[in-house]
Amino acid sequence: MNAHDTTRRSLLGGAAALGIASLTLDGTARAATARPGPRAKRRFDGRSVLITGATSGIGEATAKAFAAEGARVGFCGRRVSWGRRVEQEIRAAGGEATYVRADVREADQVRAFVDRVAERHGGIDVAFNNAGIGSAKLPHDLTVEEWDDVQSTNVRGVFLALKYEVAHMLKAGRGVIICTSSSAAERARPNGAAYTASKRAVQGIVKSAALAYGPRGIRVNAILPGTTDTPFVRPPGIPDADWAAYKKAFGPLNVDGLQRMAEPEEIARAVVSLATDDFSYMTGTSVSVDGGVMAGREMIRPGGM
Ligand SMILES: NC(=O)c1ccc[n+]([C@@H]2O[C@H](COP(=O)([O-])OP(=O)(O)OC[C@H]3O[C@@H](n4cnc5c(N)ncnc54)[C@H](OP(=O)(O)O)[C@@H]3O)[C@@H](O)[C@H]2O)c1
Repeated sequence: MNAHDTTRRSLLGGAAALGIASLTLDGTARAATARPGPRAKRRFDGRSVLITGATSGIGEATAKAFAAEGARVGFCGRRVSWGRRVEQEIRAAGGEATYVRADVREADQVRAFVDRVAERHGGIDVAFNNAGIGSAKLPHDLTVEEWDDVQSTNVRGVFLALKYEVAHMLKAGRGVIICTSSSAAERARPNGAAYTASKRAVQGIVKSAALAYGPRGIRVNAILPGTTDTPFVRPPGIPDADWAAYKKAFGPLNVDGLQRMAEPEEIARAVVSLATDDFSYMTGTSVSVDGGVMAGREMIRPGGM
């Protein structure tokens, strides 16, 4: 093991101790993601966009990005105060948003959420099935309940959302569905059995649904984010300065390519773009937005070069 590998492992070990699943970090991201000036494009004026898991992180950033482009956004999550905050922030910025508390593991709640958004916003043009949880344990340490919770949230939750969304899209004869998988779907870790299995399952649902509904005018794709600075990876309560230092060290050691963690707004912009007609011929596929992580992992480095 060379010094680079030692440092990388030490950082990951520290992250694991902090409860972070499959980490990555950066110190330059804020500057890189700042977008000067008002957004001129309004590609979703009057369109109805539904998002699962938008009370924080990637879902929150995507809800705000769609709303900034004129969409009427309906979203769910279980933390009511967080959902109300996101709803208020979108409205304060001049957008339209409806938060509905719903647990994606529960069929009745998902159906009620989807139907309410469709009724209130006039159907569903775009759905982003994004709610998910992490897991970082070796298989023999995972409890059966933990395994079931990851699959219920990340797989059953995506299935339920898609099932009820499609019913509305079939009536309209069109629609776009994007589901959040992960770079972890393509790159296993020793402690990633539950998470990687769930995110590969999302890719399976996407491929099958793309074939099922392509003839009816509905596109279905998966997005595979790399490590992104959200509550998913940031330990609760960690001071900003410590987190910034961790991110700064994390990028060069873990993200071959852009050398930094993603900001949630960067994943959001990719999702919004994929939902436009610029990608009218894309369905049944997985789009990596990972700063080059997968490209780097394809290299063979004899002797640690
Ligand atoms: N951050 C990363 O490095 C990364 C990388 C690749 C993929 N992803 C994926 O990106 C997605 C979003 O994660 P994030 O990074 O933005 O983390 P996050 O801030 O923790 O967001 C997760 C969202 O999912 C919601 N959620 C979780 N369980 C739910 C349930 N049972 N019912 C309804 N909503 C639920 C959470 O809302 P409540 O807690 O309020 O219910 C929250 O809004 C996840 O699918 C994750 O696997 C993340």
